[in-house]
Amino acid sequence: MATSHPEFDKHTTGTEVAEAFSGQIQGKNVIITGVGPNSLGEALALAIGSQQPANLFLASRTEAKVQQVADEVRKLYPEVSIESVALDLASQKSIHAAAAHIQGLTDRIDILINNAGVMLLKPEKTEEGIEMQFGTNHIGPFLFTNLLMPQLKNAAKLSESGSTRIVNVTSAGYQISPIRFHDYNTEGKEVPLDERPPDRVPAMFNMEAPGYNGWIGYGQSKTANILFAMYLSHNLAKDGIVSYGVHPGSIETGLSRSLDDNGNEVISKTNDFWKTADQGAAGMLVAAFDPNLKSVSEPSAVYLADCQFDELQPHATSLDVAERLFHLSEELVGMEFPL
Ligand SMILES: NC(=O)c1ccc[n+]([C@@H]2O[C@H](COP(=O)([O-])OP(=O)(O)OC[C@H]3O[C@@H](n4cnc5c(N)ncnc54)[C@H](OP(=O)(O)O)[C@@H]3O)[C@@H](O)[C@H]2O)c1
Repeated sequence: MATSHPEFDKHTTGTEVAEAFSGQIQGKNVIITGVGPNSLGEALALAIGSQQPANLFLASRTEAKVQQVADEVRKLYPEVSIESVALDLASQKSIHAAAAHIQGLTDRIDILINNAGVMLLKPEKTEEGIEMQFGTNHIGPFLFTNLLMPQLKNAAKLSESGSTRIVNVTSAGYQISPIRFHDYNTEGKEVPLDERPPDRVPAMFNMEAPGYNGWIGYGQSKTANILFAMYLSHNLAKDGIVSYGVHPGSIETGLSRSLDDNGNEVISKTNDFWKTADQGAAGMLVAAFDPNLKSVSEPSAVYLADCQFDELQPHATSLDVAERLFHLSEELVGMEFPL
């Protein structure tokens, strides 16, 4: 499997990708989570909004920020229908309400972009007591996606197989940690060898320090984004739905807002090429709209970086681990989701 535009790379912008896939965007119902000024969600909304989707649902936790982006898109593209949806992924009650809100507005969702996320170095918990990064970055989107599955399946029935997509925004930071089944709240408990950070993780991430390590929490949550995409693609192929995990690159957004100077210094060393938000959005748009990506050639072929497929580290390639994570996630939301 290859993308239809092998020339797209780290320099390509979301605006360019949206123009290239204009025909695939027109008439679609698209949900983007995590939208506010100076975020990747804003860049996604602007790029998709430029190509006449039927409806854009912008779901995020700070109403004023979503409104600001909605107004910006409306000003540029007045013909686009935009709905703001209140969604706090750190609260399962809020996720149920947000899904019900969307279900009241449409019975068809063509594209779901699970983009919202947090990066934290101090321990915090969701309303349900789940470590905040695992909860917000994976468990929340897991519940949101599964609650909206009837609308995604309905869209898939009405369109060409493989054009209904679920895009999980992950990070190259997934390389820091496998899923810690014996310590998913990242409390620093002893875990089996295959759940520990791989040996190659750079020393700056402080793997040996006792107690909570937010880098591990972030890495685990981003591995979960990939494994969730893998499980969805594998089990929803029969319905004509495909899912991908996309690393956007390094972009100066609000993501590092809660890091201290030391944390920001670590982040600054993770890349020497910093993208604009529009460039950061490009790969997600390839995953969502490239007509070549209508099926997955093998379970682990679900990861894109810089607009092209990329190899995964071993801890993010196993369908068995993806299934185990799916069931752990079901337990943590208290619901079962047979696909
Ligand atoms: N920027 C990068 O270099 C980079 C690199 C790799 C991966 N990523 C991934 O890209 C995605 C987007 O991040 P970004 O860089 O655009 O960061 P950002 O500017 O901080 O945007 C994150 C968005 O998620 C929203 N959000 C946070 N917690 C939420 C919650 N509990 N419920 C609902 N929405 C919530 C934020 O809303 P508020 O502003 O209202 O809090 C914000 O709109 C994340 O998944 C991140 O892991 C980013």
